[in-house]
Amino acid sequence: MATSTARIFSLPTAELHLHIEGTLEPDLVFELAERNGVALPFESVEALRERYHFTSLQSFLDLYYDCMAVLRTREDFRTLGERYLDRAYEQGVRHAEIFFDAQAHATRGVDPEDVLDGLLDALGSGTQRGITGGLILSFLRDRPVPEALQTLESLAHRAGDLLGVGLDSAEVGYPPRLFTPVFARAKELGLRLVAHAGEEGPASYVREALDLLGAERIDHGIRSLEDPGLIERLRRERIPLTVCPFSNVKLAVIPRLAEHPILDLLDHGIVATVNSDDPAYFGGYLADNMAGLADAFPALDGALERLARNSVDASFASGERKAELHALIDEWASRA
Ligand code: ADE
Ligand code: ZN
Repeated sequence: MATSTARIFSLPTAELHLHIEGTLEPDLVFELAERNGVALPFESVEALRERYHFTSLQSFLDLYYDCMAVLRTREDFRTLGERYLDRAYEQGVRHAEIFFDAQAHATRGVDPEDVLDGLLDALGSGTQRGITGGLILSFLRDRPVPEALQTLESLAHRAGDLLGVGLDSAEVGYPPRLFTPVFARAKELGLRLVAHAGEEGPASYVREALDLLGAERIDHGIRSLEDPGLIERLRRERIPLTVCPFSNVKLAVIPRLAEHPILDLLDHGIVATVNSDDPAYFGGYLADNMAGLADAFPALDGALERLARNSVDASFASGERKAELHALIDEWASRA
């Protein structure tokens, strides 16, 4: 019998690919615009929702950067983070490693420390509710490399408050190799390393992210399937892929959910995980993605527990926290 949606929503998971700015729901865009006196290029929540039709990553990023202009203060980032954690908790997420685009906010005059502090406030209240997690400073690959380095240096004294660094924004034409010095510095600061690669860009970008940046986890990475040698390496070295099914369909990377390669990746023995990327824009949070996949693929039912365990194994949580999360999944499985 197919797993019910309620049961999917109660599956304990770790979310590893989530841009906090991508959780900005239309009503919060308007609430913060009013709070901060920011003029918006859309008249209403409905008018904004009408713009949620994307043809590519860039067509989405244009709207994503427009909307985040309402985020100004530490309090705004706290509100944003808390609303995400509330929703994530309802969907079974018990650990969240969250990207933030400090560089995009700095170009609008927002102090990266205000962004960091607001999100840490939110994570602090999340911990009380049973979600652990951390923050990943993501560099915008379509902006100058020296700017990324400068952003990293501006937060170097707060390295202890960061989990790691990542690489996001427009992919094609901005290969990982450009960011080799930035990732080398992040490593020196003791930060964990991840990078978006193989979303719209080729499998060779995944290889570069591994070989030149030292990425420990690849965000998206689905185009790795075009390179059998790379797939074999990801399997052998247990390098996780943080896959985002709704995102892939919304951004036209995959024509429809029924053609998503998540099961192929699992069949190849890849540590694949399911994540929501920018849930306010792509139609759902983590369990919504799982439920969508379960609808599209009857065989996914048998893989739900595997996906949840992969998310825990692929996380940067402590060994002790991983054991707790696996125990929660044991409990879920025993209730079958
Ligand atoms: N920034 C926010 N979402 C992104 C995605 N899916 N790919 C690259 N950069 C992003
Ligand atoms: Zn992403």
